[in-house]
Amino acid sequence: MDKVYLDNAATTKIKADLVRESILNYYDNINCSPGRGGYQDSLAAGRIILDARQKIADLFNVQDIKQIIFTHNITYALNMGIKGILKAGDHVITTTMEHNSVLRPLKSLEKKNLIKVDYIKCDKKGRLKPEQIEAAINDKTKLIVLTHASNVSGTLMPIKAVGKIAAKYDIYYLVDTAQTAGIYELDFENLKADFLAFTGHKALMGPTGTGGFAISKKMATELEPLIEGGTGSKSDLAEQPNFLPDKFESGTMNTMGINGLKAGVEFIQETGIKNIRTHEQKLAKIFLAGLKKIPEIKIIGPANLKEQVPTFSITAGKRDLGQLSYELDNKYNIMTRSGLHCAPLAHQTLSTFPAGSLRFSLGYFNTEKEIEYTLNALKELL
Ligand SMILES: Cc1ncc(COP(=O)(O)O)c(C=O)c1O
Repeated sequence: MDKVYLDNAATTKIKADLVRESILNYYDNINCSPGRGGYQDSLAAGRIILDARQKIADLFNVQDIKQIIFTHNITYALNMGIKGILKAGDHVITTTMEHNSVLRPLKSLEKKNLIKVDYIKCDKKGRLKPEQIEAAINDKTKLIVLTHASNVSGTLMPIKAVGKIAAKYDIYYLVDTAQTAGIYELDFENLKADFLAFTGHKALMGPTGTGGFAISKKMATELEPLIEGGTGSKSDLAEQPNFLPDKFESGTMNTMGINGLKAGVEFIQETGIKNIRTHEQKLAKIFLAGLKKIPEIKIIGPANLKEQVPTFSITAGKRDLGQLSYELDNKYNIMTRSGLHCAPLAHQTLSTFPAGSLRFSLGYFNTEKEIEYTLNALKELL
């Protein structure tokens, strides 16, 4: 068996052919700074950004393409959303299932005594009840931050119900879609989100170095930009322009990457999100059934496809999971991730702290044969 890639929650290693072609084509034929020069190739680079913005806006049902902002990954987007909106005295509600790209920016503001944070404890499978969020709201609550799915256990969060609560109390609502964009339909308007953060290089199938956010016009007015600089617009002004998207996009854009991301989104639209999800769930069903048959394995999280994305964390008795991951790679060419997956509170919630878990995250380009092969490898090793 050739290499089997089961670390799609980290990044999608195997992308649509279109993505590679579009990156090479951009490099060979355009490769200019967008929105700066008036010559044809610079204009072509600018058009790529515009087109990508439109594709992302369509994907997330965002009304005005200027509400789409590109960053280098979702970590940048989350930092911009969190640090740009919170002021001294604000209160934030988030959960114990968040990634460090949420936890660390919040912790640094907390350590400066600027904000107070409630980390709502999810259950042993990583699940959250929307009422838990509502119960934590006080008159200082400025922001609710919630991941759509855990990158450790795959647990899906009730993002729609929490959106209704945020809207009811007029609180800014930020959703981290790192693990779901490209696999689940995400409707910005319907979710009542103010800030939908996405990363380009996972299921959206773009290259690394891409990501961004969709922002409500209300939040965009109040959000301070963390990064200021050249935008190619209003160059006579010493101050950052205050209109979208320039307010939040300074410095030369990663146009080559954004062109790849655009191709990734085109592939998703052509294939159909539902078809992508159906294929992944078909594989997940086989994998889950197989895991359940191996007595040494304990599945962490819901172990139920209605409540999770096709990301599975396991432990295996006293077995060293780093060693198991190493053996899967070295003996079977199967790529997985072991340890703490940048989400320490999630591991505490799921009782896998500090040893962590062995994670298998499936993607659209995996096959049934690969899943069977992986299950056999696990059986042999255990
Ligand atoms: C839920 C979640 N949020 C944020 C991130 C950070 O993504 P990136 O490294 O693309 O910034 C990840 C990455 O694994 C994630 O799973």
